Amino acid sequence: MIVLKDVIKQYKNKLALYNVNLRIKAGEFVFLVGSSGAGKSTLMKMLYLEERPTRGQVYIGNINIENLPASKIPTLRRCMGIVFQDYKLLPNHTVYDNIAYVIRTLGISSKEIQARVKGVLNVVGLQDKAKARPSELSGGEQQRVSIARAIVNGPPLLIADEPTGNLDPKNSMEVMEILEQVNQRGITVLVSTHDHAMVNYFRKRVITLDKGQIIRDVQAGTYD
Ligand SMILES: Nc1ncnc2c1ncn2[C@@H]1O[C@H](COP(=O)(O)OP(=O)(O)OP(=O)(O)O)[C@@H](O)[C@H]1O
Ligand SMILES: [Mg+2]
Repeated sequence: MIVLKDVIKQYKNKLALYNVNLRIKAGEFVFLVGSSGAGKSTLMKMLYLEERPTRGQVYIGNINIENLPASKIPTLRRCMGIVFQDYKLLPNHTVYDNIAYVIRTLGISSKEIQARVKGVLNVVGLQDKAKARPSELSGGEQQRVSIARAIVNGPPLLIADEPTGNLDPKNSMEVMEILEQVNQRGITVLVSTHDHAMVNYFRKRVITLDKGQIIRDVQAGTYD
């Protein structure tokens, strides 16, 4: 599903990734950990094509992104859901519209849109909040809306960059449990986090970055 070969990412005067080699199979759940500045967000940006590698190859599915014309980037992005620490919801839109707008341009009927939004709201346990605005929700609820939005298009891959970074332990646990359920539906999930307790609780594959390099990659691992 994801392959990185000898990936180097050099920002102007900062080497953010150095000789990163990585293979993630379809259906895996992977935690990406490492101290601040280790390169976690940069690695994820390689995958959702926010940044391009300076050297090396990145494959998403069987597509080598090096040969991908800019015009095809939106199509590839539609194959992945992305979740951020700060939710990035549209403040003046309802929960329903925040999710529905992702699939409104796909030419499906409004009935089908309704059914899909309802379906993902059920997955994240917010079926009663469709009419609420983001400001009327707790942080944990807002993050669950952003997960619903990320999966409404049925993507094979979900990328979450510190999804629990702004949440307390209880809400963090709820969000991680939803991500695990999403994974159990067959979606490959990659989660960056600083949350030792979550990583130690879930015992998934753990990849550790340090100064732009992968220094550890273990199955059913712990944070350190
Ligand atoms: N656009 C940019 N231009 C220059 N340097 C950058 C840019 N983005 C990130 N960096 C640098 O690259 C390094 C890796 O940053 P990155 O955001 O990937 O780290 P991170 O592991 O996600 O950290 P955090 O845990 O704080 O989110 C850092 O030293 C950062 O300052
Ligand atoms: Mg980051």
